[in-house]
Amino acid sequence: MQTILIATQKGGTGKSTLARNLSVAATQDGRNVLCLDLDPQGSLRGWWESREADTPAMLDRDPPPHDLRATLNGAKGQFDLCIIDTPPAHPEWLTETLEAADLVLIPVRPSPDDLRAVGTTIAAVNGAGVPFAFVMSQTPRARITEETARILAQHGRVAPANIAQRVVYAETSATGQGVTEAGDDKAASEIAEIWQYVRGILNG
Ligand SMILES: Nc1ncnc2c1ncn2[C@@H]1O[C@H](COP(=O)(O)OP(=O)(O)OP(=O)(O)O)[C@@H](O)[C@H]1O
Ligand SMILES: [Mg+2]
Repeated sequence: MQTILIATQKGGTGKSTLARNLSVAATQDGRNVLCLDLDPQGSLRGWWESREADTPAMLDRDPPPHDLRATLNGAKGQFDLCIIDTPPAHPEWLTETLEAADLVLIPVRPSPDDLRAVGTTIAAVNGAGVPFAFVMSQTPRARITEETARILAQHGRVAPANIAQRVVYAETSATGQGVTEAGDDKAASEIAEIWQYVRGILNG
């Protein structure tokens, strides 16, 4: 089983949105996916509870962060991929959860505030020595999007497709769907491209 942790201390950057949509895209690609929600806000679980399909899976209860490794060990016979959402914070348990991941995805909105805040997350993933990639999130069609991607590329890999600012992402947070199930071709194609990119990294 491979593990993707979605993390950045900045709030509202699109962590839960990425977790939801990537878990559905991976499921549609034939992976047996487990979602874990380490955020007490429970956004990922709330979405999953309103979902009709029973895949991707969630456990009856999410583990306390210090028990993550034991939970992953217990899940590895049953699932191929675990996608973990985290809170907008820099908790004391962050390092141990980063170290449990095969890949960390860091969503970043194209704004100077987000760029300033992401430095702490970059330092944490580098400190943990875990592979990571940035995913540009809630992007407008504007020069600031390209400029942010250019700056991020100086610090690590940037996914080749952006999660654009689209109503369907907010709508599907209530319907329990992924955008790849919701009939919005543009959103579906950017999520499919991000999943292909992530899959390529995981396959080494
Ligand atoms: N690409 C997008 N287009 C439109 N709305 C979006 C997009 N991505 C996220 N949103 C909306 O922005 C808000 C924040 O997104 P989300 O909850 O995914 O961020 P988060 O990083 O998980 O937030 P938190 O830090 O509170 O956990 C939500 O209301 C979500 O529906
Ligand atoms: Mg969230």
